[in-house]
Amino acid sequence: MVDEVKNLLKKVEAFSPKSEKEVEEFRLYFLGKKGKIVELFSKFKSVPNENKKEFGQAINALKENTQAKVNKYKDAFKTSESNNTIDLTRPVNLDNLGSKHPISLIRKEIIEIFNRIGFSISEGPEVEDDWHNFSALNTPQEHPARDMQDTFFIQTNPDVLLRSHTSTVQVRHMNKKKPPIRTLSPGRVYRNEAISARAHCIFHQVEGLVIDKNVSFADLKKTLLYFAQEMFGEKTKIRLRPSFFPFTEPSAEVDIYWGLKTDSDHRITKGTGWLEVLGCGMVDPNVLENCGIDSKKYTGFAFGMGIERIAMLKYGIKDLRLFFENDVRFLKQFSAV
Ligand code: DAH
Repeated sequence: MVDEVKNLLKKVEAFSPKSEKEVEEFRLYFLGKKGKIVELFSKFKSVPNENKKEFGQAINALKENTQAKVNKYKDAFKTSESNNTIDLTRPVNLDNLGSKHPISLIRKEIIEIFNRIGFSISEGPEVEDDWHNFSALNTPQEHPARDMQDTFFIQTNPDVLLRSHTSTVQVRHMNKKKPPIRTLSPGRVYRNEAISARAHCIFHQVEGLVIDKNVSFADLKKTLLYFAQEMFGEKTKIRLRPSFFPFTEPSAEVDIYWGLKTDSDHRITKGTGWLEVLGCGMVDPNVLENCGIDSKKYTGFAFGMGIERIAMLKYGIKDLRLFFENDVRFLKQFSAV
């Protein structure tokens, strides 16, 4: 009798199933209500007393080993089968989806607005030379206007710098293309500024340039009014204030009317109701000539704006640093935009 149990134990040890069905058959054969182990226990009474101990231990071992085998293989088949079955109808977990950065959203919106009136997109390098950042833009060495922008120069070569504005792309574009030109140049720019809620050493600009015969200041004004109304709403008003940039003559700064309804309106507009959004002007004939364009035949206008500034106005963001910190609590707010 004990030998029968030992043979069964060997069978259990050798058992190596290929499917969940085999495991179930094995379980029923040994552990089922009418299975081998119940049958062996029922024979316990008829075993001579001196063999009872050995027989009892053998059945217990058989029962434990059988149960261990069943557990081992049942689980093994379960995991591999569920891995093979991908339920394509299960709802997606949207909780941890990323979101577009507000700078990307505003850059895209600006591009779309100008695309609708025929502007192409152009780009240039972030590491520039003196000519494209300053000299070609009518800002020669020792010109005081160079101080308007705190430029990062590469120490070993003062001719190499990180571009301080995207106006560099105007120069590159005019060198490559003949008028008519109507192009928009978005990109990253660098300035040696202390980081604060209103300034950063890295930010983004969009430059616009139009060159053709008979382009006038009225064309510039109408283009910028169109932009402001597409961006901030159709009732938006703009005003142009005389200003100075070396590369444009005349030059202007453009304000949009923000309103004076709330305390915060008073604070951000310094009590005037108006907010500055960009710089612009008629391209200086010297710049056209520097870039190989006949200034007697062609005129043009240019403008430049900060993407962060537009985003701050549009979304009511008060601190520029938020754009660069990548705090997910900030970024998540733009996931539905
Ligand atoms: N480059 C100027 C800046 O960074 C912005 C600017 C002003 C661009 C007037 C222009 C312009 O094209 O005409 O402050």
